[in-house]
Amino acid sequence: MVGSVANEKIQTLPEDFVTTKVDDEVEKKREISLGRNVHTTCHEVSEPDDDDDSTGDREAYMASVLARYRKSLIERTKHHLGYPYNLDFDYGALGQLQHFSINNLGDPFIESNYGVHSRQFEVGVLDWFARLWELEKNEYWGYITNCGTEGNLHGILVGREVFPDGILYASKDSHYSVFKAARMYRMECVKVNTLVSGEIDCDDFKAKLLCHKDKPAILNVNIGTTVKGAVDDLDMVIQKLEEAGFTHDRFYIHCDGALFGLMMPFVKRAPKVTFKKPIGSVSVSGHKFVGCPMPCGVQITRLKHINCLSSNVEYLASRDATIMGSRNGHAPIFLWYTLNRKGYGGFQKEVQTCLKNAHYLKDRLREAGIGAMLNELSSTVVFERPQEEEFVRKWQLACQGNIAHVIVMPNITTEKLDDFLSELLQHRAKWFQDGKLQAPCIASDVGTENCLCASHK
Ligand SMILES: Cc1ncc(COP(=O)(O)O)c(C=O)c1O
Repeated sequence: MVGSVANEKIQTLPEDFVTTKVDDEVEKKREISLGRNVHTTCHEVSEPDDDDDSTGDREAYMASVLARYRKSLIERTKHHLGYPYNLDFDYGALGQLQHFSINNLGDPFIESNYGVHSRQFEVGVLDWFARLWELEKNEYWGYITNCGTEGNLHGILVGREVFPDGILYASKDSHYSVFKAARMYRMECVKVNTLVSGEIDCDDFKAKLLCHKDKPAILNVNIGTTVKGAVDDLDMVIQKLEEAGFTHDRFYIHCDGALFGLMMPFVKRAPKVTFKKPIGSVSVSGHKFVGCPMPCGVQITRLKHINCLSSNVEYLASRDATIMGSRNGHAPIFLWYTLNRKGYGGFQKEVQTCLKNAHYLKDRLREAGIGAMLNELSSTVVFERPQEEEFVRKWQLACQGNIAHVIVMPNITTEKLDDFLSELLQHRAKWFQDGKLQAPCIASDVGTENCLCASHK
């Protein structure tokens, strides 16, 4: 028995549990550069001394640790470019709530016996998102999650509960949480190829569907892939399902909008994510474009699906339909605060600025002879990986193989991009000065037209 106690031995899930029956792709093995070992820099917890209260030494020590930490946060925030977190916010007005242990355990719509909750804010936020994605109040269910990963785990679980024998399809550029869901729920999973842009290859998707016509399809659609910011064509995906003979009662689509879920509605040319189309759920991260200072997310699905996976819990006096038990009750208030302050108009302006600044960065990189790609609907600028890990760490770039990316969020101004570019160019001149090192070819990642290596210039 996998994952259970058998003969007193605990066995773990096999690493290759994700079965890709049709997929003949062999995962490329390469060295991954891991982060630093945190044990060497950790702040140890020590026992208080008897006279600490009278001397005040412990308070002073802790205050100095926190002051240094705060300083490092300011510095690290200044040099952050690689992850899709909007670090531009001011939640000073919410400081007064820090004194409360706010917990929304249970279902957002059914108050539990624990009274220190923020359901009134949570449901207000959920209504806002349901309106954005065009699902009526009496037809949706959702909750504020701990992150985009939890949204994916929930969306795919709903799909699995609707179609217990369904096969999960996900493009190979999908976030790792999608494949984690397949392992956790022991689902058969088929990886679909991607185009060079990172978008799902719809022809490959259809071919793979045709090989498994006997089983319902559960599909993860990316509204912004992690590395290249590619947006899967939802309409084309639905068309391929229909062409392969899958009627609407034989597929479930989860839209992973962790990254661009809140940007796409404000981009005119973007395929529309809406429950008017045959989709089952949408999730988005709250700490990314929205700019919440703690990880959180939003998950919206159709109310009719939720009855398949929920049960009443007497101890809570609420319903259990979420992945986690206790749920951060502060996050909904931060989301409510920012949605109220910015509104649709505010987000629209921010999206336009991000897209404009992303173009600015891509153009400057290319003018400087550095291969770079920017998908049309995206603010993720992909370019050749800098040669020095120290440089990568300083600017907190996300890397994969020969490519790195900058995700332009509202806090990333052209001045910051100019600082980054001038430092990159100075370092590059050093890396390549004696001709021993050459800029890597990134044509297989970004296409020959975007690569500026020696052979593609
Ligand atoms: C496409 C995509 N999905 C899901 C996630 C997971 O989101 P979170 O970090 O909020 O768990 C990410 C994270 O970057 C992502 O890029």
